[in-house]
Amino acid sequence: MSKNIIIEDDNPKIEVRHLEAKQKSEEEVTNQLFYITSELSAASKFLQNHFNKEADQYDKGLDRMKFHHLFDEICQKYNFAGTILDIGCGTGLSGKTILKYNNVSRFTGIDFAEEMAKKAIQGGYADVYVGLMEEIIPYLSSKNKKFDHIISLGAIYHLSNDIFTNFLPSLFEIAEKSVTLQIDEITDEFLANIEKIQNFRAPFFNNTPIIERFHLPKNWKIVHKEKHYLWTSPTTKDEIYGIFIRYEKIVSEEIN
Ligand SMILES: C[S@@+](CC[C@H](N)C(=O)[O-])C[C@H]1O[C@@H](n2cnc3c(N)ncnc32)[C@H](O)[C@@H]1O
Repeated sequence: MSKNIIIEDDNPKIEVRHLEAKQKSEEEVTNQLFYITSELSAASKFLQNHFNKEADQYDKGLDRMKFHHLFDEICQKYNFAGTILDIGCGTGLSGKTILKYNNVSRFTGIDFAEEMAKKAIQGGYADVYVGLMEEIIPYLSSKNKKFDHIISLGAIYHLSNDIFTNFLPSLFEIAEKSVTLQIDEITDEFLANIEKIQNFRAPFFNNTPIIERFHLPKNWKIVHKEKHYLWTSPTTKDEIYGIFIRYEKIVSEEIN
């Protein structure tokens, strides 16, 4: 299994910390995937197919995904030590960034595209729930599962406003220390441009207004909120902006 290890060089004073990535067998990967299946809408099926097909190429698009560089800066600034739940984890790129600066004991992912999930496992994620994030989060909450940190990058714009409104509060039931989200400001102009090229309305949604009017649960605070240019659409070349927001649980000394 991939893990963070300390290697001692020939020179005993030099310690090189690195991520060992041993290729896992198909069976080992499958054993780390947990399927929570249900009937998918036509829009979800479309996205699932798209990401399954894109899995092999996905990491090559890193240059146009400015949000990963911004996330690197966030990881330098804030603590992610402990257990991580990565929602819409894709190939697990975010985990690699977190590991550059933090000791993570375990990464768990959620993604409905099985081919993306397999890459995350190959990259060192301990387990990935394969299914709809909007169903798996309530499931984890009902099982009283907890994670120190929850992250989600480049995935929440796939949730409709209604679904995201119900989804957001449940994150605070599962997170013990922090919730870090990238929320894309999907514009009507971008959706119209996609429609012109692909002849259909993309299932992408602007959830920034829901973040703005969200009433934070007791004992939580916002420690980071910044608007940035995040990514460029490979289809329309539109530049997408949005926010990075990080919430942290207030520790008891801060309350007293
Ligand atoms: C743009 S990729 C981002 C991947 C990764 N978080 C990153 O930052 O590189 C979006 C991911 O979210 C997943 N996804 C989209 N909608 C989902 C849903 N409703 N439930 C679970 N996964 C979903 C896709 O399969 C895809 O892997």
